[in-house]
Amino acid sequence: MPSWNIPETQKSIGVFDSGIGGLTVVHALMQHLPQENITYFGDTARVPYGSKSEEVVREYAFEDTRFLLQQGVKIIVVACNTVSAVAIDDLKAHFDIPIIGMIEPGAAAACKASKNGRIGVIGTLATIGSESYPRKLKECKSSFEIFSTPCPLFVPLAEEGWRTHPASDLIAEEYLADLRKEQIDTLILGCTHYPILRDVIQKHVGPQVALIDSGEAAAIQVEQMLREKNLLNTSTAQPNYSFFVSDVPQKFKQLGELFLQKADLRVTKVHLQ
Ligand code: DGL
Repeated sequence: MPSWNIPETQKSIGVFDSGIGGLTVVHALMQHLPQENITYFGDTARVPYGSKSEEVVREYAFEDTRFLLQQGVKIIVVACNTVSAVAIDDLKAHFDIPIIGMIEPGAAAACKASKNGRIGVIGTLATIGSESYPRKLKECKSSFEIFSTPCPLFVPLAEEGWRTHPASDLIAEEYLADLRKEQIDTLILGCTHYPILRDVIQKHVGPQVALIDSGEAAAIQVEQMLREKNLLNTSTAQPNYSFFVSDVPQKFKQLGELFLQKADLRVTKVHLQ
């Protein structure tokens, strides 16, 4: 139910992604801000976003944001690196609500973590093509050496929930073999689907590499933003979690319950206008 008649602080944090990837951000938000209500939209009918043109991704991003606004949310978390890479400025310019993307928090966390200045970035074709991460990282330290690789097949593997499947292992080897030679000490998981495959990624880059999950970094930024704007929920009531998808709610529910370790997720299929 849209939450128009409740105090501003008790309104939900709105989160969207192309599919289940944004649940990695929801997980971080649940851990970090356990009193907050969350409304999630996963555009499962149109996943993946990462291999589509900037124009199309921008169009989808506007529709997803409008949907969450109709639910009466107090802040929007763009739990999708692809949208954050190509459309965040347009969204911020167009909508009068706090909006947090993935690139800035992810880059800031990597900047803090790297000791040797050699940072890897993996993401969708659109995110890597946009060069958003290298730009942000260079703003932090111009001497950083950055090694970027798109890993598009990680998205369907994560959507299948194939965390330990031999196919994931094989594809990770193919994508990450070159990166392993670059002596990076930090790797940005520049797609919110990738933390689902965290173990297999860690195996192929080596245990010495720090993996940066931009969702965790973003959750800290969300808290700061809500605090600054006096929007933190101080209610002690059980938080309310609502999930909306544009297709196949059953599969999303199954994977979501497994991933978030929560029984009985309420998942509703909606048709975006
Ligand atoms: N999870 C999204 C991201 O962070 C989108 C992946 C996709 O739909 O291609 O980029």
